[in-house]
Amino acid sequence: MQFVILTGASRGLGAAMAAQLLSPSRQLVCVARSPNEALATRARASGARLDYRLCDLADATGVTRLADSLGQALRSAGGVSRFVLINNAGAVEPIGRIETLAAAPLTAALQLNLAAAMLLTASFLAATDASGAERRVLNISSGAARYPVAGWSAYCSAKAALDMFTRCIVAEQASRPNAARACSLAPGVVDTDMQASIRAVDAADFPSVERFRKLKADGALGAPGEIAVRIVAYLERDDFGEREIDDIREH
Ligand SMILES: NC(=O)c1ccc[n+]([C@@H]2O[C@H](COP(=O)([O-])OP(=O)(O)OC[C@H]3O[C@@H](n4cnc5c(N)ncnc54)[C@H](OP(=O)(O)O)[C@@H]3O)[C@@H](O)[C@H]2O)c1
Repeated sequence: MQFVILTGASRGLGAAMAAQLLSPSRQLVCVARSPNEALATRARASGARLDYRLCDLADATGVTRLADSLGQALRSAGGVSRFVLINNAGAVEPIGRIETLAAAPLTAALQLNLAAAMLLTASFLAATDASGAERRVLNISSGAARYPVAGWSAYCSAKAALDMFTRCIVAEQASRPNAARACSLAPGVVDTDMQASIRAVDAADFPSVERFRKLKADGALGAPGEIAVRIVAYLERDDFGEREIDDIREH
C-alpha cells in the first residue's frame, strides 16, 4: 500500500492529482483550506481511503499542528511499501513591484509557498525514517523558479527557494540508510484558478500580463486532468528523484 499526502487538493492541479491518486491501494491524505466534495463522493463510492484535512498553510501555527498530526498518522500506518509527500499548494499573490507589497501578504506567501513545504517535509522524513519503506517527496515548482518575472518577486523567490530546498534534501539524504528521493517539478502553464487570477492583474503590477492572456486565448494552457496524469506517472517512475529539478514538459 502507498501512503500519499497531497496539499492543495481542493481545486486546480491538486484536485486533478487527487482524483488520479484516489485508489483502494492508497491511503490518501489531502490538505487545503476548503473541502473537495467531488473527491469525497468518489472516495465513498469507490471504497478508497481518503483523509481530508482543512488547514491554512499560510498560518505557521496551523502548519505546525498539521505537521505533528500527520507525523503521528505516518508513524502509525501499517503495511506501507511507499510513503509520498506532494507539496502542491501554492499561490502567485501578492503581485506587484516589491516596493508596493505589504508585509503581511508577502510573509504569508513565503509561508505558504516555501515554509509550509519545508515543515511538512521535515515531519514526513522524521516520521518515516525508521519505516524501511520507500519515500518520495515531490515539490510542485514553477518555471518562475528558474527565471525572473517582474511583479512576481514573492512567488519566483519562494519557488526558487523550493528548488534549492529540494536539492538540499537530496544532499542530506545521500548519506542516510533509507535515503528519501526528492524532486522539484515545474508543471507548465496549467488552466486553473491561478492562471485566471494572473490574467486579471493590471499591467502596471504585472507587465507580462498580455502574454498570459494570449496563452489562454490561443488555447495554449495545459488541462489540469492531463497534466495530473503525467505527474502521477512521473511520480511512479523507477528513476524518480534522479533529476532533482525537472519540468513535466520535458517528459
Ligand atoms: N497553474 C499554473 O499555470 C502553474 C504554473 C506553475 C506552477 N504552478 C504550481 O502548481 C501548484 C498548483 O497550482 P494551481 O494552478 O492548481 O493553483 P490553484 O488552482 O489556485 O489551486 C491552489 C491550491 O492550493 C491551495 N491553497 C492555496 N492557498 C492555500 C493556503 N493558504 N492553505 C492551504 N491550501 C492553500 C488551494 O486550496 P484552498 O484555496 O482551498 O486552500 C488549492 O487547492 C502551485 O504550487 C503552483 O505554484 C501552477
